[in-house]
Amino acid sequence: MRISVVGGTGNLGYGLAARMAAAGHMVRIGSRDQERACSAAASLNALTGTENTSGHANAAAVEDAETVVIAVPSAAQAETLRSLAALLDGKVVIDATVSLNPKDVTTVLPPEEGSCALRARALLPAGTELVAAFHTLSGKLLADLSRTVHADALCCGDSAAAKETVLALCDTMKIKGVDVGPLSRSAFLEQCTGIIIGLNKRYRRGHVGLHFTGL
Ligand SMILES: NC(=O)c1ccc[n+]([C@@H]2O[C@H](COP(=O)([O-])OP(=O)(O)OC[C@H]3O[C@@H](n4cnc5c(N)ncnc54)[C@H](OP(=O)(O)O)[C@@H]3O)[C@@H](O)[C@H]2O)c1
Repeated sequence: MRISVVGGTGNLGYGLAARMAAAGHMVRIGSRDQERACSAAASLNALTGTENTSGHANAAAVEDAETVVIAVPSAAQAETLRSLAALLDGKVVIDATVSLNPKDVTTVLPPEEGSCALRARALLPAGTELVAAFHTLSGKLLADLSRTVHADALCCGDSAAAKETVLALCDTMKIKGVDVGPLSRSAFLEQCTGIIIGLNKRYRRGHVGLHFTGL
């Protein structure tokens, strides 16, 4: 699959890109700065022992991709999506944005739309198939390819076909994907990030994750 990761120079985007490239996908790292993207891509190629990753300015990164991951800070999400909206029409977009409270990152301050993913829905063309996912995975854990990810990749969205694409992608990354329902559930998934950060702090851990039993 040709996947673009906008924010692929950051913690979560880099970790996701690592697992995707290691799984054999062609990954295009998107950045506001092409040089930064190329440097992250070179580092990912060294990490994965592949040539599957390349670096681009954001627009060039998403242009040719089938699936696009958005992993940018909440404060930059609207601006990023507005600038790329026309290019995202007809594509599967996976939004991982969480609006953490800058005064207390164990809590989440959702935007007025109810969640970052619902804000993305309002900003993206109707032809974009939006899935919210990856909020409950640790970027650092993902980037450590020597470690197995035992946490589930929870996802939600209103397009069954797009969710199937994301679940299949998770399979290739050796992470169990779980469909938790419609896009409105993104408010819950985004809240989980705050809970996980709180647990990491309270129990002095780095990689707390969520896993549903019985599935
Ligand atoms: N880190 C995690 O483990 C984790 C887990 C769950 C959810 N999340 C969510 O995923 C998103 C990304 O988190 P992160 O920890 O990967 O963030 P990060 O390390 O700060 O990286 C985000 C990337 O976004 C890009 N970006 C675009 N516009 C920006 C702006 N105005 N200011 C700063 N960066 C901008 C930057 O790339 P360029 O400068 O190259 O453009 C940056 O490398 C956030 O919404 C976060 O809440 C993160």
